[in-house]
Order: sequence, then C-alpha cells, then structure tokens
Amino acid sequence: MIKRHFTLTQASAPMKTEIHIEHDLLYSPQWIQILRSFCGKVAIITDSHVKQIIAERWTQFLKKQGIDAYLFSFPQGEVSKNRATKERLEDEMQQLNFGRDSLLVAIGGGVVTDLGGYLASTYHRGISHVLVPTTLLAMVDASIGGKTGVNTAFGKNLIGSFYPPKHVFIDTSLLSTLPDKEWRNGMAEIVKYGLISSFPLFQKLFNNHAKWKARDREFVQEIIYDSISIKKEVVESDFQETSMRRILNFGHTIAHAIETLENYGIAHGEAVAIGILVESYLSYKMGLLQKLEWERIEPILHCFNFPMQLSSSITLENVHACMRSDKKAKNALPRFVLLQEIGKAAAFDRSYCTEIEEPLLNEGLTWMLDRLRDPK
Ligand SMILES: NC(=O)c1ccc[n+]([C@@H]2O[C@H](COP(=O)([O-])OP(=O)(O)OC[C@H]3O[C@@H](n4cnc5c(N)ncnc54)[C@H](O)[C@@H]3O)[C@@H](O)[C@H]2O)c1
Repeated sequence: MIKRHFTLTQASAPMKTEIHIEHDLLYSPQWIQILRSFCGKVAIITDSHVKQIIAERWTQFLKKQGIDAYLFSFPQGEVSKNRATKERLEDEMQQLNFGRDSLLVAIGGGVVTDLGGYLASTYHRGISHVLVPTTLLAMVDASIGGKTGVNTAFGKNLIGSFYPPKHVFIDTSLLSTLPDKEWRNGMAEIVKYGLISSFPLFQKLFNNHAKWKARDREFVQEIIYDSISIKKEVVESDFQETSMRRILNFGHTIAHAIETLENYGIAHGEAVAIGILVESYLSYKMGLLQKLEWERIEPILHCFNFPMQLSSSITLENVHACMRSDKKAKNALPRFVLLQEIGKAAAFDRSYCTEIEEPLLNEGLTWMLDRLRDPK
C-alpha cells in the first residue's frame, strides 16, 4: 500500500504540519508512537456519529496502549459548530484537569476539525493538536491549511483563528462508511482544485471517473494526494488569505448565496458544483476562458452526479441581495474568482478576484435560473 507524506510550512508562522496519508493508519504503531511523543493527557474530540462508528473503539484501544485518552463529543452536524459547544467541551476538559501539556485530537468531518482546532488554539492560550479527518471534504480541504472556527447567528466561520495542527492523519480506510452525499461534498472541492490549479488533475478526474465511482483504493488515495498538494502550495504561498489563497473560493460566491436561499437544504458540494458551473460561465463571458474549455466543464460535473437543481424560490433579486451581504463582498459588491483557463485562476493583479458589471452578472444568473431552476 502506498504511503504518502509531506510537510506544510507557513512562511508567516513558525509552525509546520506533517501530513500523513495511508490506508489503515489509525491503529498503526507509527500513530501510537507520535501520540506517545506528547507527554500530557489526550483529549479526543468528535461528533456523536463518528463517536459511534470510529472514535469510541479507538479511544478504548489507545487506553489499552497506556495512553491517557478521554473522549469528548457533541451532536453531529453544522448546528453544533458554535461557541456554546466549544465552551461546554472546554469546561469538561477543565473538570478533568487538562493542562497546557495536553494534546487535542479532533477526529471527524470538517465540523469537528474546525471546532477542535479553534478550541486547541485558545485552551490555555494554545495547546498542541492533531487532526484526523474522516470525511473526504475534511481530508482534502478542512483539515489542511490551519483555518479554524465556529459559526454565529451572523454567519459561518465568523469567529476563529489561523492555528495549524502538528499532524494531519489521513486514513483512507475511514471513508468506507461515508455516504454518497458526503463523497460528492468532497468531490466538488476536488474538481475545483483541478479547475483553479491543475489541468492534469482535471483530466485525470475526467478520464477515470469510473475508477472513482468504484472507489478504487489506489485512485482515491492518489486524488486525495493531488488535492492536498494543490491546497498545500496555495496555503504556503499565502497563509493569511491576502491574495492567492482566495482562489480556493472559486465557485463559492454563488454557492454561499444558494445555500443560504435554500435554507441549507442543499448539500454544500451540490451548491459548489452549481457555483463552479456559473462562475465558469462568467469566466467565459468575460472573455477569459476559451469556448472550447468552457464546454468541458459541465460534463465533468455530470460525471460525478451532482444534481444541478435549484428550487423555484430562487430569484435573480434574492441571489443578488444575498451576494451583496457575503462576507467577501467589498462595498456591497460581490467578488468572484474566475478562470483564465482550465487549471489556472485569473490573477487580476494578484488580487485573484474581481467584481463583475451588473448586466453581465445578471446574464449569468439568468442563465443559471433558466437552466437549473425547478419550473414549478
Ligand atoms: N477550515 C477550512 O479550511 C475548511 C474548509 C472547508 C470546509 N470547512 C468546514 O467543514 C465543514 C464541513 O465539513 P464536512 O462536510 O466534513 O461536514 P461534517 O463534519 O458535518 O460531516 C458530515 C457528516 O458526515 C459524518 N461523518 C464523518 N465521518 C464519517 C465517516 N467516515 N463515515 C460516515 N459518516 C461520517 C458526520 O458525523 C456528519 O454527520 C463546514 O463547517 C465547513 O465550514 C472548513
């Protein structure tokens, strides 16, 4: 079995992250050895579902290995990603005398890794932490790059920190229980990586989608590796998201508006797939992306079975209103990452995003509504 490993280093912060990718990593001696190298107690943070399927058994195993491990959990889902959950976990850890020398291990999807990372960054002014992502999205995206955070009533990820973990352990065997919807959530980000940064990845996905659908172990691992390599490169060049890191938002300006307007009844990956399609269309209409390239983008989204549907309540007006209040908007004007070509985001003088004139934006949104909106 292939073992893959690399180190992510941030020039702006004196911290580096070791990223390990392997099948059946969770119970490996290598892992246990690394856990032993931290001397204090180990707080394992997870959600209720991952607790049941992975974390409870794993904690028991660690205890048997002599590691002073305690399991803490919260109800699964985005609704738990808030300050109240963090506070409750902090209190539970304090009751058990977790000190500065403790290690926090967040095992779960992006909700767990974001919340766990944020908790680690403030507990006793910062303790070491390790991430064990268990969804595809968390493996290729949420656990990579050091962004942590929680949601508030005012929006997603509004409170948080940049706080890289010491290690990320990616055990691809943990994906075996993942539902199709969660595979698609991760795949939307992977297609995005190909479009913004790697034509070879885009081509590999397109030519081998049958392997992906069959969950071919080697292929899945290779794609995860390629995706992380791209995110690593982007994050290393711009850790605090002042320029190039913005390209990771490709597809997301429209996706966030759709998710809000659908009251989060649409999966994030499905909204991102629609965002990718429309923002690619805008790239073509802006004269950046060539027609032949633009025509290759919709087929890849179909290959991975994204539903590409919007409900009848979505209108030009409410999409506009929603995008104006997006946290990345400037002076109430939404900004977009656009494609120069497949595999390359447009640089726009190193700001990597742009506003779009209202008539063109309206044309793009009308095109989206005509094509994807439920006619009822
Ligand atoms: N920090 C970042 O850079 C970054 C990047 C992208 C996304 N995110 C965040 O990630 C979050 C979304 O992550 P997510 O999609 O992983 O959601 P999630 O953590 O809610 O996980 C989705 C569901 O899958 C379940 N699950 C987890 N692992 C499983 C497994 N192996 N088998 C079966 N079920 C499993 C979970 O219990 C949950 O119900 C969002 O909050 C988003 O803001 C952060």
